[in-house]
Amino acid sequence: MFQIENLGEAKFKSPLQLSTVRGDNIFNFVDDQDRLVYDLSLEAYNHCLANNKEPNCLEKAGPRQNLYFEPNTITAAIVTCGGLCPGINNVIRGVVMALHYFYGVKQILGVPYGYEGLNPEMGHNFVELTPDSVKDIHQFGGTILGSSRGAQDVGVMVDTLAANNINILFTIGGDGTLKGCNAIGEEIEKRGLDISVVGIPKTIDNDIDIIDRSFGFETSFDIAGNVLRDAHNEASGAYNGISIVKVMGRDSGFIAASAALAMPVVNFVLVPEMDFQLEGKTGFLEALRQRLETKKHAVIVVAEGAGQHLFQKDEIRKDASGNIQHDDIGIFLKDKIKDHFKEIFPITVKYIDPSYIVRSAAANSSDSVFCSGLAYMAVHGAMAGKTKFVVGRVNNKLVYLPISAVTQKRKKIDLESEFWFAVLQSTGQPFTL
Ligand code: F6P
Repeated sequence: MFQIENLGEAKFKSPLQLSTVRGDNIFNFVDDQDRLVYDLSLEAYNHCLANNKEPNCLEKAGPRQNLYFEPNTITAAIVTCGGLCPGINNVIRGVVMALHYFYGVKQILGVPYGYEGLNPEMGHNFVELTPDSVKDIHQFGGTILGSSRGAQDVGVMVDTLAANNINILFTIGGDGTLKGCNAIGEEIEKRGLDISVVGIPKTIDNDIDIIDRSFGFETSFDIAGNVLRDAHNEASGAYNGISIVKVMGRDSGFIAASAALAMPVVNFVLVPEMDFQLEGKTGFLEALRQRLETKKHAVIVVAEGAGQHLFQKDEIRKDASGNIQHDDIGIFLKDKIKDHFKEIFPITVKYIDPSYIVRSAAANSSDSVFCSGLAYMAVHGAMAGKTKFVVGRVNNKLVYLPISAVTQKRKKIDLESEFWFAVLQSTGQPFTL
């Protein structure tokens, strides 16, 4: 299930001065056979024992003793795709530093404006990346390479990689980008080319399956948390004051729920994973009325993908990446609340949409550490000739996973999980909503 593909035999000795024995106080090379059990539950363990089966295991990330690529002969390229996310520049920096200083790779190219940069028709030119040109970029949000949404012709992109003698392509992006990366890898395989493709999962939505979290997510809910604190000041500053904060997250409610946990001033969290009702005894508006009656203020955080079942959909709109574009639940809720309370008692509503602010900032400290780790591990895996893989953290360990394993479906909040239970405990919102 988690088997990583390799371009071929790793024939070159790694230049890294690491160890192969324990006890000498020097970090050891990691072997492909160093594997970690995926499902840590006793139930899964017993199931394997009873069926005499080896458990599903993940390949541990890290420097390999033998390399597929001879470092000083190769060219690597980096592309950043999709929406912005805190930490992209940290990852670019980490990849460049690792290629240059750990392995002595001489040529590293930056692909401008996402996959568009691999289509010569778009007229974007590659940029040379060096330790000097990237050394300060971690201080800034966004991506120094620029980004774009949407697919490009896979054949054309592979032509471009081949024409520029690129041996490794690092793709930094979310679900669509990773699927694109896999398609590039398959075309490379079909043509029998010697090019490794690597994905580094990037999304504030935290919706990449299997991995614990994607980089940038934590910074985003950090920023959203600060907005919630201010929203609480607004709500509690008025009699029957209500603040509604809408946050990004597409079809998953992780930013909304995590921000609410980080800033425990929130009374209702509405996420796409729950089909809440507005009206009726167990509906949201009644729960809000009860909250106001007792506490005289309320903070609501709503994820952009929540409550889509409340809209009459005549047509499905999609963005360039093929993602469904949602109707505006924030404005809808604000209007519904105002209408509902007209006949009940006076309220004051403050509506806040931090929008792109949650994703365009520089990475916080925790994400910065995470981004460097991901970048270094991506480089180690690629130099060893692994391909069509992503680097991610699973059960708190950095591992390599086949791209195909993490792109089968998008991760969503499990409403029976401890995570969601913690949200309900923190907010006090009814379990039945
Ligand atoms: O996937 C990241 C994300 O920020 C989503 O949370 C949001 O729905 C979407 O991208 C917005 O994308 P765009 O940049 O196309 O407006």
